[in-house]
Amino acid sequence: MKFSKLLLPAFLILAFCFAACSSDEGNGIVPEKQEEDPVNEVTLKEKAGFGIGAAVKTTDLNGQYSATVIEHFSQITGEFEMKMATIWSGDGEYNWEKADALVGFAAENGMEVHGHALVWYKSFPNWFKKAKYDSATFETMVKTYIETVVERYSGRVKSWDVANEIFNDDGTLRSEDCPVYETFNDPIAFYGRCFQYARNADPDVKLFYNDYSVVVAKSKRHHIKEMVTRFNKDGYPIDGLGDQFHYSVNTNLNTIKSGLNDMAATGLLIHLSELDLKVNVNRSDNYIFSPAEQKLQADAYQNIVEAFEALPQGQKFAITTWGVSDKATWLTDWWHPKEYPLLFNKDFEKKPAYDGFLKGLK
Ligand code: GLA
Repeated sequence: MKFSKLLLPAFLILAFCFAACSSDEGNGIVPEKQEEDPVNEVTLKEKAGFGIGAAVKTTDLNGQYSATVIEHFSQITGEFEMKMATIWSGDGEYNWEKADALVGFAAENGMEVHGHALVWYKSFPNWFKKAKYDSATFETMVKTYIETVVERYSGRVKSWDVANEIFNDDGTLRSEDCPVYETFNDPIAFYGRCFQYARNADPDVKLFYNDYSVVVAKSKRHHIKEMVTRFNKDGYPIDGLGDQFHYSVNTNLNTIKSGLNDMAATGLLIHLSELDLKVNVNRSDNYIFSPAEQKLQADAYQNIVEAFEALPQGQKFAITTWGVSDKATWLTDWWHPKEYPLLFNKDFEKKPAYDGFLKGLK
């Protein structure tokens, strides 16, 4: 009797304690919020005050791939569809199938199109290169090509890379395997006329010069700016500059910022035109894309987007990623099979990189 008299109050105290301690309210621990982080509720295209682009392949535009493109991006660029070698099948002959499909997809889904690229040394068709035209014939043919293509998509393509990759990193003109360099004494003047041909074909389209390593290669950038000065002086139109932005998580942020500001000093529109960020920087066969590596990439995306956001408002044209998901990226061939440079994983799920990009947007 004596024992149970003592035991009952002790049991009641213990039971009370247990009940109180198991409730979050009772012990001062704030329960974790269950609702989603608001930053994740909007998509890139909804949040951005400029174009959010993806380079796409029309053959892939179905299922999850196209659903992802439609949900998150506001503009598309053909990875191959609008290159000279795809469209220009012969003298006076054009293959519009893929470019039309690209432009059609954009129109159906309320997206814009950035055209890439009218003149690129790597994309002159073989039949054209083999012919070894003299400079006058060469120019007449390229002029007709530019006018035909730009006119066809006038009002449906908002911007074109008129010329792509004409400088080496040291600022000299690219000479190797470059039909323009081989044909013209003054290639820059030829490119200036190409911008003019594009302008004549569509007075409203935005015209870009596009290259890689613009923000990191000072000499190249300097010569690009000199070209812009010359275009302005000689009356050739140019609206914008694109840096492809094929960089890595290790690319120096201060270099990126000062390079971007230097590009913007031209007063032109700025396009990060082919953004992807390598993570397997040592091309290691044993590379693992660990959570820590994913975080590094997310931070790098955020920093780049913040640097772009810091540019004058009216000069922020667009940021385009070169591809959509890590399932298909040129870097797994060209760099290393273990490479994960984009915003979506192989299953089209958002990566931390996506959240980094989103956080970087104002
Ligand atoms: C360059 C070109 C792109 C594409 C990539 C590699 O950056 O501008 O069109 O060919 O190379 O895929």
